[in-house]
Amino acid sequence: MKKLLAACVIAALPLSSVAAAPADPLAPTGRWSAYTAGRAATPPMGWSTWNAFATDIDEEKIIGSAQQIVDIGLAAKGYRYINIDDGWALKRRMPDGHMILRTDKFPSGRIGGDTPTFKPFTDRLHAMGLKAGIYTDLGRNTCSEAWSETDTDLPKGNVLEREVGIYGRIDQDIALYFADWGFDYIKVDGCGLRDYTPRNPRVLSGKFRALGPYLDSGAVTRTDIPAIQGMFRQINLALARNNPDSDYILSLCIWGAANVRTWGKDYGGVSRTSDDISPAWGRLLVNYDSAVTRSLYAHPGSWNDPDMLHIGAGDFDANHITEARSHFALWAMLNAPLMIGTDLRKTPKALLDIFGNADVIALDQDPAGNQAVLAYDSSDLQMLVKTLASGEKALAIFNRGSGAYDVDLSADQLKFTDTAPVELTDLWTKAHTSFTRRTRLHVAPRETLIFRVRGTRLLQGGYYLSEQPGSVNPAVDGTVRPAVDPTIFRTAAGWGGTNGGGDRPTYAGWGGARADSAPYGQILHVAGKPFSAGIGVLANSRLEVRNNHAQRFTTMVGVDDSATDKTHAVSFAVYGDGKLLATSTPVKWGMAAKPLSVPVAGVKLIELVARSAGADNERLPVTWGEAALLER
Ligand code: GLA
Repeated sequence: MKKLLAACVIAALPLSSVAAAPADPLAPTGRWSAYTAGRAATPPMGWSTWNAFATDIDEEKIIGSAQQIVDIGLAAKGYRYINIDDGWALKRRMPDGHMILRTDKFPSGRIGGDTPTFKPFTDRLHAMGLKAGIYTDLGRNTCSEAWSETDTDLPKGNVLEREVGIYGRIDQDIALYFADWGFDYIKVDGCGLRDYTPRNPRVLSGKFRALGPYLDSGAVTRTDIPAIQGMFRQINLALARNNPDSDYILSLCIWGAANVRTWGKDYGGVSRTSDDISPAWGRLLVNYDSAVTRSLYAHPGSWNDPDMLHIGAGDFDANHITEARSHFALWAMLNAPLMIGTDLRKTPKALLDIFGNADVIALDQDPAGNQAVLAYDSSDLQMLVKTLASGEKALAIFNRGSGAYDVDLSADQLKFTDTAPVELTDLWTKAHTSFTRRTRLHVAPRETLIFRVRGTRLLQGGYYLSEQPGSVNPAVDGTVRPAVDPTIFRTAAGWGGTNGGGDRPTYAGWGGARADSAPYGQILHVAGKPFSAGIGVLANSRLEVRNNHAQRFTTMVGVDDSATDKTHAVSFAVYGDGKLLATSTPVKWGMAAKPLSVPVAGVKLIELVARSAGADNERLPVTWGEAALLER
């Protein structure tokens, strides 16, 4: 019993980079709390089996694509991770619980005899200069065991032997995958926590044991978030133990469910924001929408993952170059993992050229890690702007619809002055153009124009925080009742097709912290004054801001006009490395924004706290207007 207790205590201990909630979540900690463990300083790039082969995988197919990645120069451009998705497991051997891989598919593993091993396979990838990724599920069983129509590639054996997920086996499996087999990346899926309910027909048939459900994609209210977080915390402890060199990436795959879009950034290097992509335009919109408003939730070390690339199939095949380019450009602007999902042995050159566009890749891999922010937003047309480490910008103009547009672009949408020239480089054609004040651009249906842009900053000698979302972490974003995001596109090409009541929006994430926007999508306003730059967040929130050499923090604070709570007052406080530097007098709805100007020389971490005793946070959005870090 004592032993058991000790194990529980260890399991509950937070990893240094996985924050435990302090008693007062708004109290400053002086510490950046988003995940930085492992090796995801920039979004991972590579190739994965799933979109190309589903469970019909084998060594030859995987090594074939890996060899292509090296031979055609994609490895040199950053594609490194070769990830095996679902379908590798034959069974869990009983009674020792050791995982057995499918040697009919991975013959190099036979060297282990009764205990086959992936070591020759990962050695081979490592010898090619690549990294290797593996797949598991948080529950006892995987997604293909829950959803596959046939059982050809599914695990074999009795009920216990077919339990190839990590539930209850975290330490044993992570040690095997990383210390013994030498993998560098693990994707942890979630069907095992969702799809094996006592009433599920596969469970009722006696094929699988019931578990939970811990997770319900359709209702965060039926989801046990602390239990899921506890499992990821244990996985992190095991990863740290088995990877003394920290060379690993943990990929969370619970599809934006469980309100993971608030906390995924604290638990893994990448975290899925939506259900699976498919090679359909409508589906791309769904997945893109699930991440595009979430710039503040992505940072070096913790990225939004709208799922793997589907270039090479359906609406993104070689007959749809416009769509395929859009897919790639948008994923790069979102700082998404760039995981190729097609059989590279057969990929036409036109598509290889998309994967190999070094200028677009450079936007995804920019060391500042700023996910693009929406500068213009409508149902058909969007402009995304990303600030690069060099101070240059990247601009994407995305035509979601089926009609062509002439788009007016002005320098201020890029936060550049309108008195100096703005130079654009088209990242597909490499053509250079320039304009002053404004220009007009033509964008075809489903096209994404993508540029690298140079200009003169509107804010001389500093940056708006909303230009640096990679350095701003909404440690506490004020959301208390995770609500679905109504702005996410709803497609008829969803997994349910046109059956039932339709694909209702199911992903939580509405009302979170936003760059250059109020939490519910309005343009920032305080007492009628609009702010084109700023951070919108709910009351009772705490933002962590990394400070690289700035001398002064300035902002105009107030209750946003979108608040429906007109009675509660909010106080704004600025902390530097845990010490109080400045506070505002309390402000209410309708009061003019108050200026704050705070010296921050030498401060490494600034914390911005908006506090309101007794308020319903979700009715009280606040604005850190024109929040900026200045060099003087
Ligand atoms: C889920 C995941 C996919 C893939 C499959 C494998 O659907 O979201 O990315 O891993 O499982 O079965």
